[in-house]
Amino acid sequence: MSDCYLGIDIGTSGVKVVAADRRGKIVASATEAFDFDRPRPGWAETPPSRWWAATAAATRRLVESLGRRSIASIGLSGQMHGSVFLDADALKNAGRSPIGALRPALMWNDQRTEPQRAEIENLLGGRRACVEASGCPALCGLTAPKLLWLREHEPDIAARIAGMCLPKDYIALLLTGAFATDVGEGSGTMLFDNEARAWNARTLAALGVDREILPDAVEAGTIIGQVTAWAASQTWLPEGTPLAIGSGDNQAAAIGAGVVDPGEALAIVGTSGVVLAPSETHTPDLAGETPGRLNLFCDATGRGGRAGKWMLSGCMLSAAGSLEWARGVLAPGESFETLLGGAGEIAPGCEGLIFLPYLTGERCPIPDPEARGGWIGLTRSHTRAHLVRAVLEGVAFGLAQIMDIVREACGPAERVLVTGGGAKSAVWRRILADAFGSLVVPFEADEGSALGAAAMGAHGVGAFDDIASLARAWVRLGEPAEPDPAPALLKARAVYDRLYHDLHPASASLAAIDRGEADR
Ligand code: XUL
Repeated sequence: MSDCYLGIDIGTSGVKVVAADRRGKIVASATEAFDFDRPRPGWAETPPSRWWAATAAATRRLVESLGRRSIASIGLSGQMHGSVFLDADALKNAGRSPIGALRPALMWNDQRTEPQRAEIENLLGGRRACVEASGCPALCGLTAPKLLWLREHEPDIAARIAGMCLPKDYIALLLTGAFATDVGEGSGTMLFDNEARAWNARTLAALGVDREILPDAVEAGTIIGQVTAWAASQTWLPEGTPLAIGSGDNQAAAIGAGVVDPGEALAIVGTSGVVLAPSETHTPDLAGETPGRLNLFCDATGRGGRAGKWMLSGCMLSAAGSLEWARGVLAPGESFETLLGGAGEIAPGCEGLIFLPYLTGERCPIPDPEARGGWIGLTRSHTRAHLVRAVLEGVAFGLAQIMDIVREACGPAERVLVTGGGAKSAVWRRILADAFGSLVVPFEADEGSALGAAAMGAHGVGAFDDIASLARAWVRLGEPAEPDPAPALLKARAVYDRLYHDLHPASASLAAIDRGEADR
């Protein structure tokens, strides 16, 4: 009987559970899809009980397929920044019975909080002061503005909050009964002191947030508890299995990709698109004219009393999410393979067609909840394959804009590792290599954040002493794509860089129409 390490990733539209052996080979995996809700323009919510139902279903299937292998540990990863609001009963009964949240969680791509975002910036003393205090400017997607929104719009619910945590922390709570979070997720709330790796008392006081509602924030590889008898009955996991809290999906992806040392860079082409670079020091992005174009987050290399490091990252909101949307409207039911195969036949630059991926507004490098997406430059010559290729190129341009800032802040990287659903496509990887002007390297089997979660669990139970060498040992690289950008692609990128600014007034008016406001 051999040990395996389970990783559970709570994604935006599905849960993925993997079991890895000591060498990082995936021996079993299971997924369970779900939808998130968009009750109004710009809103994005999920009832946390939906995450739990999907986690339990996927885990049961995985456990069934494991045969005689025993589970040595569990590690978690999850979509960042979401706000799970819990009452006192939920905290009391967690791990012993099903618990619900006070309302659906507001997600990372929810854009309703512009007034609260601005209020926070004001209360903390301006954009630069926000970045100095929390590593991030005040952004709609982060957690703190969500709490302020709740206090203003649903005061009765706000008054009942006994605990606030992140999506994967809610799963940890149900599995073990322990209320905890990790320093990486703490740093995505705006309420954290990234240098001290602890809640920021000054920020909490300025925003009137009670420390009592926040879980203790520990390093990602810390074992916070064991699977309870009730959770075992729901998930078929063995009672008593130790659980490491894990971290946000960005931090977990970095571990799963072995990107843990300065000088390396990782692009994540998931629903969101992220470029991140590890940092040895706590250095917020204050150098450019606009402070905080990149976010500084704590990373997931720590465990117990041993502190980890940091990472700088920028997140665009609709990367593979744009392609998923485009498939839904252009070719429902068609496989991504066929769709991308057609796009691969089209010449770079798409004969003068550009796609703007701002389908849920944008965050980096354009923090604008009202940004609108679109295809610009359509002619009668364009086909569906052009429309699809333009999506791939537009997303690559958005990621390349972030990569430019990462290079400015962290120096050049020899190569860019790529992970996430979008990185599975050779056509897209080629476009990314051209857009980045860098070697782009995928993974042989891309399990991304879920593998990182399993690694954090293995680190937690001491199966490996040093997560950096574990991460490197678990990684198997695939065939790199060399950059060789066509002149038409470079010209299209230059137009892309201008388009957001050129279209800004029109986008704001269209957003107002969407909200039902007549004159703007
Ligand atoms: C990161 C971010 C997204 C979510 C998606 O800041 O908001 O990447 O974590 O899952």
